[in-house]
Order: sequence, then C-alpha cells, then structure tokens
Amino acid sequence: MHYGYFNGTIVPSDQIGVGVTDLGLLRGYGLFDYFLTYNGRPFQWDWYWERFRNSAASLRLPLPLGKDETYAVVMDLVGRADQGDVALRFVMTGGYAPDSISIVKPNLLIMTEDIHPVPPVQYEQGIRVVLDEYVRDMAEVKSTDYKRVILKDSEIRAAGASDLLYQKDGEISELSRSNFFVVSGNRLITPNQHILRGITRRTIMELAQADFEVEERPLLLSELYDADEAFTTSSTKQVLPIVQVGDLTIGNGQVGPKSQYLLDRFNDLIANW
Ligand SMILES: Cc1ncc(COP(=O)(O)O)c(C=O)c1O
Repeated sequence: MHYGYFNGTIVPSDQIGVGVTDLGLLRGYGLFDYFLTYNGRPFQWDWYWERFRNSAASLRLPLPLGKDETYAVVMDLVGRADQGDVALRFVMTGGYAPDSISIVKPNLLIMTEDIHPVPPVQYEQGIRVVLDEYVRDMAEVKSTDYKRVILKDSEIRAAGASDLLYQKDGEISELSRSNFFVVSGNRLITPNQHILRGITRRTIMELAQADFEVEERPLLLSELYDADEAFTTSSTKQVLPIVQVGDLTIGNGQVGPKSQYLLDRFNDLIANW
C-alpha cells in the first residue's frame, strides 16, 4: 500500500483529494519531480532536491518544507510502503486560487508509487524514436505539462516507436521524458540547451569521465549520421539504447557495446547505493 503526504498530513494515497480551484487543474500551473530508491535509500537525493527547489523557484512557488523536513517525510513514506524499492513523486501546484489566477499558497503532494521498469526486450533490442519539431516551454523546469507526447501517443505507436525525439532547426534537445546521448568513437555527446537537466544524465556524465571524452554542447541532427551509438537516460529508463531515429538507423542498428558498458556502470552504482 502506498501513502502520501498532502499539505502536512499523511494518509493512504487513494484517500488524497485535491480541490477543484487548484491552479494545477485550472491553469496547468504545476511542477513535479520523480526518483527511485535503491536498497531503501533515495537515489541522488541532493541532486533531485536541488532540481525540485529550482523548479519551484522558477515558478515562484515558495516551498512549504525545508530539505531535511522533506527527507524525513520521504523516509516515513518509504517505511510505510513496506515493500522493496519504490518511486517517489513530488507534485507542487499553484494551490487554491479564489480568483482562479493568483497564487496564495501552493499545494504540495509527496507520495510513493510502484516502480514501472522498462521491459527487458527494450534493453536487448534498443528502441526507436520519432522526430518531432518542438521545444519545451521553460525546459529546465520539470513542469507537469506533457501534452505534446500524450497528443502524439498514437502516432508514436503506429511508427513502432517508444517516444519522441525533440529537435528544432536541426538541433536536438531531448526525448519527451528522458535525455539524449550519442557515442562517436571515444566521444560521448549530450545536448546542453532546451533540456531538463536529468539526474540520470548527470550521473552518466560523471561515470563516463574515466573512459570517454564527455562533450556537453549543442548537438545537430546531421551528427546522427556519423554516430556509432545513441541512448537515452532517465530515472526509470536508466541507460536505454536507441537504434533508430525516424528513418535513420543508428550505427549498425544493434545495441552498442558502449551503451551496454555505461548501463553496466550504472547498475554497479545502484547495486551498492
Ligand atoms: C523532459 C525530460 N527530460 C529528461 C528527463 C530525465 O530526467 P531524470 O534522469 O532526472 O529522470 C525527464 C524525466 O522525467 C523529463 O521529463
């Protein structure tokens, strides 16, 4: 069973209700964050907290709890879930607005959820992505606005793909819910603009320092023609190989050894977390 914290009270998550004047509901004014525990411990807590705090500051929402108080809530919820590892979802919205527009006091929800791992076949065969000309609004904020990918869900499925890869004027940014990397020889390249700064991305960049030249810079679509491998990173996907982008096959169309190597390093890290 999962529990949730909502504005100071902890109850089973299915008993939490949010009122109809909430600005998240009425105006799409909200942000969230999402991370996992490994061996019962929140993964990269300092980094996720920092991102959550920055997202709230960008949307001018004052945080009702400090870092240590929030950590105590997280550990309380993890304990109550009484199962192995869990996902944590933080959601913060503009709160209840009597005039349907002004922020008075944000609503903060923190809850545990089951983890939904990626099917193993996707790691074995890699995934395909559909190119989409789009840039996320306020890309550095982990906003609750995912209407682009929800709108395109049937198009993605019809193409036998798993997600969108956003690009604008030939410059790649990220997937709808994860970051993007290419491997070219010994170089590992990841876009640095119009992206959410993923915590998994940051972890992989750090892990890769020892064996790769890591380049964080604008990445052009044309560079995909020379790429040996591509992969995407997120809290749930970890390091997931991409073998096709639109009509273009990446490298030899198989999961590459360097993507596999970085996934193995990530698995080593979480095994001892
Ligand atoms: C737009 C976007 N980019 C990247 C990511 C990956 O971030 P993380 O590795 O912190 O999960 C996410 C995660 O949901 C996302 O929504």
